[in-house]
Order: sequence, then C-alpha cells, then structure tokens
Amino acid sequence: MVLKQTLIPIALVGLLMQAGTEAWAQESPAQPRQQQLDYLLKHDCGSCHGMTLQGGLGPSLLPNLLQQKGHTVDSLSLIISKGVPGTAMPPWGPILADDDIRWIANQLLQSK
Ligand code: HEC
Repeated sequence: MVLKQTLIPIALVGLLMQAGTEAWAQESPAQPRQQQLDYLLKHDCGSCHGMTLQGGLGPSLLPNLLQQKGHTVDSLSLIISKGVPGTAMPPWGPILADDDIRWIANQLLQSK
C-alpha cells in the first residue's frame, strides 16, 4: 500500500520529464498566449525595432541578420530577459515568463 502511494508520484514526475525533452513545441505556451506574445512582439518590441522588425531605434531583428550575428535561442533569450544595459533595450525578464521569452526568441529566428 505504501509502495503504491509513492510509486504514482514518481511515475508522474517521470512523465513530465519525458514531455520536457520532446519537441520544443511541447514546451511552448498555449495557443492564446502565443497570440498575446505575437501581439507584444509586433507592438511593444516593434515600437523600437519597427513593426515589421526591420529596425528603428533598435536594430533589425530579422532572422537572417540575427543568424549572421551568430545568435541562438539562448543568446537571444538572455538579451530579451536582461536587456542591454546602457541602451534603450529594456529587460523583459521581470514581466515575461522564461517560456514566453524563449518562444519569442524562437520566433525571431524563424523566417516567416
Ligand atoms: C525602448 C526601446 C526597445 C524596446 C521596447 C525593445 N527593444 Fe530590443 N533593443 C533596443 C535597442 C536600442 C537595442 C540595441 C542595444 C545595443 O546597442 O546593443 C536592442 C537590442 C535587441 C536585441 C539584440 C539584437 C542584436 O542584433 O544583437 C534583441 C534580440 C532585442 N532587442 C529584442 C527585443 C524584443 C524581443 C523586444 C520585445 C519583447 C524588444 N527588444 C523591445 C531597444 C528596444
């Protein structure tokens, strides 16, 4: 009986860990959240980087350019989370979840 009670939570943790290592899509925010983040990307990020992200006050965030600069989901997530001190680029870590930030970073690297 005791054994059964402890095995179930362990099995659940195992399942969750398995899900985490599967395709990236499994970790991404739910569809409505993705729409909100897409809006944020166009309007908030777009206010500095341009509505279509070709650049403005901030540099262009188009996939080709970011790839040329050697950016990865990790490097972009770090910049988005911490901002760039001494510039207009604000840190988004205080208001966005890590998953949200990684989703945005992923979006930026994807050609549309
Ligand atoms: C208030 C203006 C402003 C807003 C809003 C803003 N940025 Fe920036 N961002 C900048 C500036 C300015 C830089 C360039 C910093 C520098 O000189 O290195 C920058 C740099 C970046 C870079 C690094 C680009 C590179 O080529 O290395 C990324 C990525 C980025 N921003 C993403 C975002 C995202 C995503 C958002 C929205 C969640 C956002 N920014 C919102 C001003 C802004």
